[in-house]
Amino acid sequence: MSLALDAPVQSAPPEADDGVWLECIACGGQFAPFEEVRFTCDDCDGLLEVRYADQPTWDDFSGEGVWRYAAALPFEEGVSLPEGHTPLHEVPRLREDLGVNRLRVKHEGMNPTGSFKDRGMTVGVRVAEELGVGRLACASTGNTSAALAAYGARAGLETLVLLPAGKVAAGKVAQAALHDARILEVDGNFDACLDIVQDLANRGEVYLLNSLNPFRLEGQKTIGFEILEEFRDDYGRFPDRIVLPVGNAGNTAALFKAFRELVAAGAMDADEVPKLTGVQAAGAAPMVEAIEDGADEIRRWEEVETIATAIRIGNPVNAPKALPGIRGTGGTAVAVEDEAITEAQRDLAREGVGVEPASAASVAGLRKLREEGRVDADEDVVCLTTGHLLKDPDAAYEAGGDPEPVANSTDAVLKHIGAK
Ligand code: F0G
Repeated sequence: MSLALDAPVQSAPPEADDGVWLECIACGGQFAPFEEVRFTCDDCDGLLEVRYADQPTWDDFSGEGVWRYAAALPFEEGVSLPEGHTPLHEVPRLREDLGVNRLRVKHEGMNPTGSFKDRGMTVGVRVAEELGVGRLACASTGNTSAALAAYGARAGLETLVLLPAGKVAAGKVAQAALHDARILEVDGNFDACLDIVQDLANRGEVYLLNSLNPFRLEGQKTIGFEILEEFRDDYGRFPDRIVLPVGNAGNTAALFKAFRELVAAGAMDADEVPKLTGVQAAGAAPMVEAIEDGADEIRRWEEVETIATAIRIGNPVNAPKALPGIRGTGGTAVAVEDEAITEAQRDLAREGVGVEPASAASVAGLRKLREEGRVDADEDVVCLTTGHLLKDPDAAYEAGGDPEPVANSTDAVLKHIGAK
């Protein structure tokens, strides 16, 4: 019930701290937000959400970036580099090619460490300070570790990251290393790394900053606020659909929460909410499977593989929040092959927008849905691109053209390029 688009504003329970509390989405259990460390419900182990007694509307937002939306966040400011305020690119040739009414690309690769994870960390690391924890940790396909390392460094806190050995793109490992995270390479996939980090967190060894941490998703909500505000400023209406890559389904859950809060505040009508449309790589598509099967739970895929290593995930932990988001907004989910991801990466690059493979999945998914007639030609669409091209230099190099060797003279160069 609590995840319905038209859920009413709640009044603060006794556990609330200044109108903020944690609530279990499964059993409704309510907890104080900052008294002790918890990631899931004490009673039923369900996922927690941050709840507020006050729901802000557009007039309550001022400034730039994630903290523009402080009225919808648990603090006034956080550990900031700063993050957010990313471009909403126009891509006219791609729009024409895909045949939709409007198409904009929200490029989250333009955040300080090159992915949307920074939005979650600016809030999450602030909460870690509030709780007074010692060591921060995450499992990661790469971007979370880069962001945690940078924000942890900024806050002067120790960071530990667990990565699936051999499956993290070079740029991301380089970031985590230089920002001085302790990097453990695990002989297993991302899901196995997350199992271990959860165990460490449950034993009190680390403060977990994966998207299972409800405060991270508060920061990521601001992607939704930014898209809606800018789209409305440009066109006087909200987009019909937001297409995004899905790994752990944190963003899907966060965007849905942003929409619910805006509807509760009266800032948006329920029928104006964009259709959340998730895209996964065909080799790692448990969410798509659950949507297609009409299932309430996802089936964990033990074997996953894709060129889009950022979303090489078989057990999306935020599925209980994200499945209602996709369904509740009338959206859908679709799986795309690696070749289509690389082609979409080239499509975006031709518009000057450089993204890593997982990001391009959104555009590949939109193309597939258009081809299948599941997205209409009259729709206004926003595709989310989640990480920068330089995150995965090897994939970019593979997708692009080859350098051509040439002799060291102007004549040789002229001859080579076929000039007269
Ligand atoms: N795109 C990129 C570039 C990512 O790094 C991730 C997740 C996603 C999409 C999926 O987002 O989990 O909210 O559905 N990366 C995580 C990491 C898992 O460890 O960096 P989601």
